[in-house]
Amino acid sequence: MTPLPPTFDEIQRAAETIQGRLPVTPAWSYPTLDALAGCEVVVKHENAQPTGAFKVRGGLALAATLAPAQLAAGLITASTGNHAQSIAYAARLHGALATIVMPESAPVAKVTAVRLLGANVIMCGPTMSEAVAKAQELADLDGMTYVDPGNTPAIIAGHATVYLELLTQRPDLEAIFVPIGSGSGAAGACIVRDRVAPQCRIIGVQSSAAQAAYRSWRAGAIEVAPCLTRHSGLATGRGFELPQSVIATGLADFVLVDDAAISRAATELAHRAHTLAEGAGAAALAGLLHSAWRPSRAAVVCTGGNASAEEIAELGTP
Ligand SMILES: Cc1ncc(COP(=O)(O)O)c(C=O)c1O
Repeated sequence: MTPLPPTFDEIQRAAETIQGRLPVTPAWSYPTLDALAGCEVVVKHENAQPTGAFKVRGGLALAATLAPAQLAAGLITASTGNHAQSIAYAARLHGALATIVMPESAPVAKVTAVRLLGANVIMCGPTMSEAVAKAQELADLDGMTYVDPGNTPAIIAGHATVYLELLTQRPDLEAIFVPIGSGSGAAGACIVRDRVAPQCRIIGVQSSAAQAAYRSWRAGAIEVAPCLTRHSGLATGRGFELPQSVIATGLADFVLVDDAAISRAATELAHRAHTLAEGAGAAALAGLLHSAWRPSRAAVVCTGGNASAEEIAELGTP
């Protein structure tokens, strides 16, 4: 059964948990980026988190809600890398063991970072779907605490704190562009927006090479789709029930952009915003640049900066 989404109060409690453990990330505008987009663009710098991505908020928020016995059993999850680092980071802080099942497509640098955070890494299957199934199987076999990467309310509450922070920094935003893999971040954005800035539109962005969340949103039902994107944070092949239950009515729009457009947005962020973004972290900007609707003040969440060596080498000039 799909759990209920977090309440606004739970999101506020997650923010209290995170406060003091993570920085308040900057939200800056850059003149040449504004000129490119034709509007004020506020970049929310989640690339400045200690693990290089917003997902660390989810792991810390979740771990604070677990009973000592659940932590002592060890945590197990599946991830292409950023949620993995989040769970490994939170587990280490709480003295718990973490096991992360990662698809073979996961970037080497992310796998290495997860191992260096002290987690046990198991490589399994070509995509997240196989990795999720394996993590569930191992949790059942070994009694570890299974953490679903998208369907866990406390994780969504943690991710939602990005938007609580952003809308406190900039309550005047007309729109926030949010990259979507499972949709946990976008779901958190919608819940916060409903309470603190009802005028602000949340717009989802996904790679056209991995459209499962988009198709699920369009259909109003969970859909699968080929997962061929090279941008690992966006690499999901199936809609996630809990985030979909929120974004179904919460998103004002959902933009698809191709992988090349996402890579070009990463180059623009490097040159115009002094920012190293991985593909998933640049997808929100790609979505804004491809959106038919141009607000006068929009935020793009740079959700992660864990670019691979290939991504860095390919940045080039805009
Ligand atoms: C950098 C980055 N951006 C965006 C996403 C997508 O987030 P969500 O799964 O909450 O939709 C991820 C997911 O891992 C990510 O790592």
